[in-house]
Order: sequence, then C-alpha cells, then structure tokens
Amino acid sequence: MTTSLSRFGQHIVLFGCGNMASAMLGRWLDAGLDPAQVTAIRPSGKAVANGVKVVTTSAEAPANPDILMIGVKPQMLGDVAEDIARLIGPDTIVLSILAGVTIDDLRGRFPGAAARMRVMPNMPVRTGKGVVGLAGADGKDAARKTITRLMKPLGHVEWIDEENQFDALTALTGSGPAFVYRFVDAMRAGGERLGFDEPTALRLARATLASAAAQLEVSELTPTELAAQVASRGGMTQAGLDVLDEDARLASLMAETLRAARARGRELAALAREGQD
Ligand SMILES: NC(=O)c1ccc[n+]([C@@H]2O[C@H](COP(=O)([O-])OP(=O)(O)OC[C@H]3O[C@@H](n4cnc5c(N)ncnc54)[C@H](OP(=O)(O)O)[C@@H]3O)[C@@H](O)[C@H]2O)c1
Repeated sequence: MTTSLSRFGQHIVLFGCGNMASAMLGRWLDAGLDPAQVTAIRPSGKAVANGVKVVTTSAEAPANPDILMIGVKPQMLGDVAEDIARLIGPDTIVLSILAGVTIDDLRGRFPGAAARMRVMPNMPVRTGKGVVGLAGADGKDAARKTITRLMKPLGHVEWIDEENQFDALTALTGSGPAFVYRFVDAMRAGGERLGFDEPTALRLARATLASAAAQLEVSELTPTELAAQVASRGGMTQAGLDVLDEDARLASLMAETLRAARARGRELAALAREGQD
C-alpha cells in the first residue's frame, strides 16, 4: 500500500487539533496530503499548518466531511458531542483518538455516521515511525481501507480485533515511548556511575538506543536472539544480562508498569463516561 497521500481526495475535519492531532497532521502533510482538504476546529484559533483552514467553532466548519477525527481530551467529549454530531453526515467516518472512549460510546453518540473507529497513535507518528492501533469500522471494509491508507504514513499500523485489548495496546504503544525513554535515562545514570560526565553518558545512551532500534527494525531475529548475538558465554554482555534477568526482574517490572498504565486507562475511561475531570 502506498504511503503517499497526494491523491487521498478525502475532506478531513479535525475536531480539536492539539499536540496529538497536530503531530498526525504534520506527518500527513509531509506525505503529500493537500492542506486545502483539512479544516481544524480549535477554540484558540491558533494556526496549525500552512494552508490548513482553522475555525474556532463547529458552526464554521464544513458539514458531512468524509472523515471527522475527534482530538479533544476524553473528559470533554460530553460537552462537545452535540457539536460533533451536527457536522456528521451519512458518509462521514468518525475517528476517535480519545483514550478509553469505546466504540459503543461512539455509536451511542454518533449514530448517523457511516462508520466509527478508535485510533491510538503515539507521539513518534510525527516522524513517520510511530505506532497506530486501530479498532472498529462497523464491518465496513471500504472505510477500513481508507483509514489504513491514511494511517500508513504515520508508521506501523495494527488493527485490534478485540476492542477489550485496546487499553493494553494503549499502555504498550501509546505510553510505551515514555517507558523506553526512562530506560535510556537509566542507562545514562548508570553510565555516569561508571565515570562519564552527564552529557557524554546521555549522548552514548541515546545513540545506543537508536542503533539497537535500527537493527531491531530491519532484523528478522527476535530481541532474545539479537541479545544472544551480542553476548558471548562468560563475556561482559552476559554478565550484565545476568543482572537484568535475575528472578526475571526486568520482565516483572515491565509487566507491572504496563498493568499500572492499563489500569489507569480504565479508571480514566470510567471518569470520561461520568463526564468528570
Ligand atoms: N498526547 C499523546 O501522546 C496522546 C496519544 C494518544 C492519544 N491521545 C489522545 O489525544 C487527545 C488529545 O490529547 P492532546 O495531548 O493532543 O491534548 P491537547 O494538546 O490539550 O489538545 C486538545 C485539543 O482540544 C481542543 N479543544 C478544546 N476544547 C474544544 C472545543 N470546545 N471544541 C473543539 N476543540 C476543542 C483544543 O483546542 P486549542 O488548541 O484551541 O486549545 C486542543 O486543540 C486525548 O483524548 C488523548 O487521549 C494523546
């Protein structure tokens, strides 16, 4: 599937265009999306990108767009749902990037749409090397194809068939970059303890992560196999791996980390449903 959006030909309304929606839009424009096809609704009226029309209220936005992506905070959905519903026509595919808001929530609020989908991007989508989880589509293959094409330039795209795994996906791929950054920070701190000054330790830790990630991306080997290639029996790397692997402590820590993120996602979703902050 092509990653160019130069012939995408769908009109897109972004209902809310803050950090996340702007990151996605930035990459779509880099991939050739015509900015004249996009309208962003944001109360601040702040510009989003060259050639993209920004309006401050939904009344100024075109009705019945091909795609309407909701990018407000989850707890705001109740306040803006009526404004969104007014824009939706029978051909509109509704995308929601709101953590915790379910397909059933979307169906209940936007019954008139052609299809409804959940989208979970992560911040690196701006570089085209992000991860995008997708669920929903109301059984509409054409809608699924259109949205897969739109998401492809953002990075790795994964459809999740079981919506109840969406919170787990959010913990792994949405929050995941922050966990990896912490790991790099821990390598930086470890490097300092070995005597490097802070900037040098950070530079080396970052470059190590980038080099390992680049190899992981192109290699067909699993991370376990790649680690085994670096380590030789009785060598330095194996001595370090033995510390990480003792009582599976790194694996347990990561499992606990992901469980905590997923649990918080569920709590926030419940709060969003109750319309609280
Ligand atoms: N940040 C992430 O890494 C990430 C990852 C995946 C999913 N998400 C999801 O993305 C959503 C947005 O997060 P964010 O970090 O991008 O938040 P954000 O930067 O605060 O953006 C929120 C947007 O909502 C707009 N907005 C507020 N009130 C509105 C109204 N009445 N009508 C229309 N637009 C309105 C804001 O307008 P102004 O621009 O005018 O203030 C802003 O553009 C959340 O639901 C979150 O769950 C975030």
